[in-house]
Amino acid sequence: MIALFDSGYGGLTVLKSFLKVLPKYDYLYLGDSARVPYGPRSPETIQKFSEEGIQFFIKEKVPLVIVACNTISAVALRYLQKKYSDQIKILGVVRPLAEYAAKNSAKKRIGIAGTRATIASGAYKTEIQKLDPACEVIGQACPLLVPLIEENWHHKPETRMILRKYLRSLKTHNIDTLILGCTHYPMLQKEFQKIMGARVHVPNPGDIVAASFEDYLQRHPEIEKKLTKKGTQKFLTTGDVDRFEEFSTIFLEGTKINVQKIAL
Ligand code: DGL
Repeated sequence: MIALFDSGYGGLTVLKSFLKVLPKYDYLYLGDSARVPYGPRSPETIQKFSEEGIQFFIKEKVPLVIVACNTISAVALRYLQKKYSDQIKILGVVRPLAEYAAKNSAKKRIGIAGTRATIASGAYKTEIQKLDPACEVIGQACPLLVPLIEENWHHKPETRMILRKYLRSLKTHNIDTLILGCTHYPMLQKEFQKIMGARVHVPNPGDIVAASFEDYLQRHPEIEKKLTKKGTQKFLTTGDVDRFEEFSTIFLEGTKINVQKIAL
């Protein structure tokens, strides 16, 4: 089974891409919805919360977990990998998105939109410049977007107005690629694209992560053979089950799912 871990519902945008690219595998999705959002929290708290998630997967004997959450990937991934590498394989989303951006930005001018914690960590800038030191990376925190999307307000004019304000500075930096560095932002992909204009490439981050993981599995047959393949999906939340089910129909565009509650 492939496990996906997120601070809440947002990672469902990543799962959606995985189901498209790698449908034959079994999936276990855990959202720490009781404690979402992680984005405004301190690195210490993000580390502590995400560590509890990883310990849960270890107890469940899961061989591999993909941290779908940008905030956890940016702030805590290295810490988690170092501490638990002998018990579980942990992959994040920052590296595949950084690789994509470094490879595809012709002008080498890349924008990153994310939570406060993701942007403050500088993780995208570090990873992109490791791959290509000539790249300019401009970060923009968009802290109001997660609550607006979670209120199902993403198609309201108020949200578009806030987004335009956030993107104003990125527009002046003449970027050619914008990475949506937050699980929720693909829900606003069309709005991001419209505001940034046709000259800026705004790819779907879930599709990039799923394609990169497909490639990873081809390069690591020893891991691939540990993953069960019955095409099943299991959803767990630390928060309210009904609210998770309601959200999943928005994030997965209509698909009804069954969710169980767990404690971390
Ligand atoms: N999953 C988070 C991310 O991708 C967004 C929600 C949160 O702040 O916890 O950054």
